[in-house]
Amino acid sequence: MRIAVYSVQPWEAPFLLRAGTRPDQPRHELVSLDARLSPATANLAAGFPAVSIFVGDDASAPVLRTLHAGGTRLLALRSAGFNHVDIAEADRLGLAVLRVPAYSPHSVAEHAVGLMLTLNRHFHRAFNRVREQNFSLSGLMGFDMHGKTVGVIGTGTIGAVVCRILSGFGCAVLASDPVTNPACTALGVQYVPLAELYPRCDIITLHCPLTPATRHLISAAALAAMKPGAMLINTSRGAVIDTRALIASLKASHIGSVGLDVYEEEGDLFFKDLSDQVIQDDVFARLMTFPNVFITAHQGFFTREACTAIAQTTIDNASDFELGRINPANRVGTHHLAPAPPTNAAR
Ligand code: NAI
Repeated sequence: MRIAVYSVQPWEAPFLLRAGTRPDQPRHELVSLDARLSPATANLAAGFPAVSIFVGDDASAPVLRTLHAGGTRLLALRSAGFNHVDIAEADRLGLAVLRVPAYSPHSVAEHAVGLMLTLNRHFHRAFNRVREQNFSLSGLMGFDMHGKTVGVIGTGTIGAVVCRILSGFGCAVLASDPVTNPACTALGVQYVPLAELYPRCDIITLHCPLTPATRHLISAAALAAMKPGAMLINTSRGAVIDTRALIASLKASHIGSVGLDVYEEEGDLFFKDLSDQVIQDDVFARLMTFPNVFITAHQGFFTREACTAIAQTTIDNASDFELGRINPANRVGTHHLAPAPPTNAAR
């Protein structure tokens, strides 16, 4: 099958090429369009039965309509999150949307804990200081993670691994999730309402998906309810936090420190080298000025294991679709199996 692949990063191509070589799979022709999917670039995929996208791509309703009009019947997400896809419109069009629901929860969970340790022990500042032969410890004091209370919002695949790591540190873990995960309760994790979690936690880490219910879940009111000096970690999706409210809380010295791997408007920034450009996003620029804010550019997933699994599942999803079967665990939305497009023997 011919697959138009948007937003391929240089590091990603080898994983995608390696994934496509299993002898028991149909052969696919992967064409990198060297563009981000958007209303302006959707027509580049005309004639491709399958399109593959990454987290920064725009699969809103008008974009999906353009893809569908061009003959696309499969949208293969190279991600677990699907908040960038208008699923209702995909269902209406009969466009199959397949994702990679679980590739390596450890990659994101370990990154979230890495953000906690970096902010707590100031590794980023210590690195620069020692390189400048400044061996003073002033301002670098942290706290023992052991004995602290950490709130985990969303205890699905990734959140459960975070709970396990934090339990190993000797933290008391509180959780909030509409669905109780027995693996977490077995660890001693206590599910409490958010109103109780916010004021009790020294650290709060977000692992819920971005949905209408979780958009700006971390609002001004939620931030105000958190313990003064609390640390907030977000490796889920940027818009779970109201960034303007977060900035106000940081300016008021209420929130103690913030570790972000995601940002509400990251689509225009992340995965690009903008080092010689002026950042136009004033909200992001302000966030970067705080000494107690540590930002990584959506790299939680970025391990060899996760990239291998993402590429392989994406190719498997395309193969399954072509063979007229779909792994229900990978399907997003309620669409029925669309008719398999004609096979293209070329790779
Ligand atoms: P998952 O679907 O296994 O777990 C999500 C959990 O959040 C579920 O248990 C669900 O019940 C819960 N949830 C839903 N609404 C909630 C609410 N209002 N409050 C509290 N919990 C709620 O998803 P998984 O694999 O654990 O991933 C979580 C999120 O992490 C993804 O949706 C994605 O946005 C993000 N992610 C980030 C990556 C990165 O590189 N930074 C990579 C992969 C995922």
